[in-house]
Amino acid sequence: MGRKIWFLTGNLGKVEEAREHLTPLGYDVNQLMVPKDTIIEPQSDSITEVAMAKIEQAKSHLPGGNDSEDMLMIEDAGLFIDALSGFPGVYSSYVHETIGCDGIIKLLSHLITEDSIRLANLRSAQFRAVAVLWDNGKVYIGNGHCPGYISTKIVEGNGFGYDPIFVPYDLDSDGVSLLAGEYGEVSTHGSPFGGVEVNIKKKFSHRSRALNDLFNQLPSA
Ligand code: IMP
Repeated sequence: MGRKIWFLTGNLGKVEEAREHLTPLGYDVNQLMVPKDTIIEPQSDSITEVAMAKIEQAKSHLPGGNDSEDMLMIEDAGLFIDALSGFPGVYSSYVHETIGCDGIIKLLSHLITEDSIRLANLRSAQFRAVAVLWDNGKVYIGNGHCPGYISTKIVEGNGFGYDPIFVPYDLDSDGVSLLAGEYGEVSTHGSPFGGVEVNIKKKFSHRSRALNDLFNQLPSA
C-alpha cells in the first residue's frame, strides 16, 4: 500500500471520488471522522481560507498525531451568484438549510427576461471547490469551478444542495466550459443538475476539477 491520505469529511461519496483519482497514483485514501463541533469554521469569504483553517485544526486528529507521516485532505465547495456579489458562497450550507433553493429563486425574482441568453447572463453563478492536501508542513491547493446560471424554476430529482436550481453552461469536446448561450458537445439542454443523471453532472463537476488540479501537482507515491 502507498502513503496514507486521511480525508476529513462526513461524506463517503467524496471519499470514493478521491480514491478514483488517487489510488492509481499509489495513495491509500481513508476517511477521517472527528466528533461533531470539533472543527470550528472561521468567518471568511474565501473557501480556501476556510479549508486551511480546518486543516490547522484537524492536524492533531490524525491517527498518528502531529508527527504522523500520513497526509491530511479537506475539500470545501460553495455556490457563488454574481448578481448577489457572490452570495451564498462560504455560507452555502447554512443558506441551503435556512432559505433553501426556493429562497434563492425569490432573491433573483427581479432578474427575469424571455431572452434565454440574456437570462443566462443576468442570473450567472458558479460552483467553486477547493481541495487542500497537507503533507507534513507542505500544502498543496487545487481549485475547480463550474460556471452556469440559476434557473427560474426548481427541478427536483437527482443530486443534492443547489442542484435543483443550477444550470451549467455547455462543455466543448475537451470538457471546457463555454459561455452563456454557446452550444457544446455536452449539455443539460437548459435543465438544472436536478433534472439530469449523476453521470452527466460528473462531467461538469467543480469537485472533480479541484481534485484533478490538486493531483496534477502531486508526485507519485
Ligand atoms: P461542501 O463544502 O462540499 O459541503 O458544500 C457546501 C454546500 O454547497 C453544500 O451544502 C451544498 O449546499 C452546496 N454545494 C456544494 N457542491 C454542490 C453541488 O455539486 N451541487 C449542489 N450543491 C452543492
